[in-house]
Amino acid sequence: MAIEAGDGELVTAGSGAAAPTTIRDASPADWPGIWSFMRSILAAGETYCWPVGSSEDDARAWWMSKPYGRVFVAVATGGEIIGTAEVHPNQPAQGSHVAGAGFMVSPAAAGCGVGRALAEHVIEAARADGYVAMQFNAVVETNAAAVALWKSLGFAVLATIPRAYQHPAFGLVGLHVMHRKL
Ligand SMILES: CC(C)(COP(=O)(O)OP(=O)(O)OC[C@H]1O[C@@H](n2cnc3c(N)ncnc32)[C@H](O)[C@@H]1OP(=O)(O)O)[C@@H](O)C(=O)NCCC(=O)NCCS
Repeated sequence: MAIEAGDGELVTAGSGAAAPTTIRDASPADWPGIWSFMRSILAAGETYCWPVGSSEDDARAWWMSKPYGRVFVAVATGGEIIGTAEVHPNQPAQGSHVAGAGFMVSPAAAGCGVGRALAEHVIEAARADGYVAMQFNAVVETNAAAVALWKSLGFAVLATIPRAYQHPAFGLVGLHVMHRKL
């Protein structure tokens, strides 16, 4: 799959989809496209510590309005938003040089390289913005796609909080704290 990295450069990522995709900073007008797939990811309750029945307004505030945050979208050639990511200080003030981030790819576009392209873009953007490391506080240990992707990008599991996530199918499972330098 060809991914445009935001400056016109096309890179190849994955092999499962046909259309080129652009990654760019999000605008408020992108929200309906983001929500179109975010709602199903949140409703599944398998990957985020966020209410399954979350309202659209609450989800928008959570994703789009983190203090000092930045949001990105992956856009297919037809204009459809097929992925999103956000990066923000993992802690305020004295901890603000370490980034936190979140990623969601439309289930219809999963497995085609969009998540990897978003992650590579976000890592570069975070480095350019002055962050010195990136930390994920709560990667559900049964989220095989995410764990494999983060490890392939150099993230290490620093710790696993046991029985910290209520998974709808697997019951109480662990949450990984994952980290890499930028
Ligand atoms: C995790 C997520 C962002 C990955 O996005 P994606 O576009 O499907 O991933 P990609 O196609 O870029 O695949 C990247 C890597 O993930 C891994 N992967 C993808 N799907 C996988 C699966 N079903 N099982 C195991 N590993 C998988 C592979 O290592 C793959 O590497 P490759 O490029 O060598 O093939 C996406 O599945 C998603 O949005 N999930 C729901 C929300 C979520 O879990 N967010 C992350 C929370 S920590």
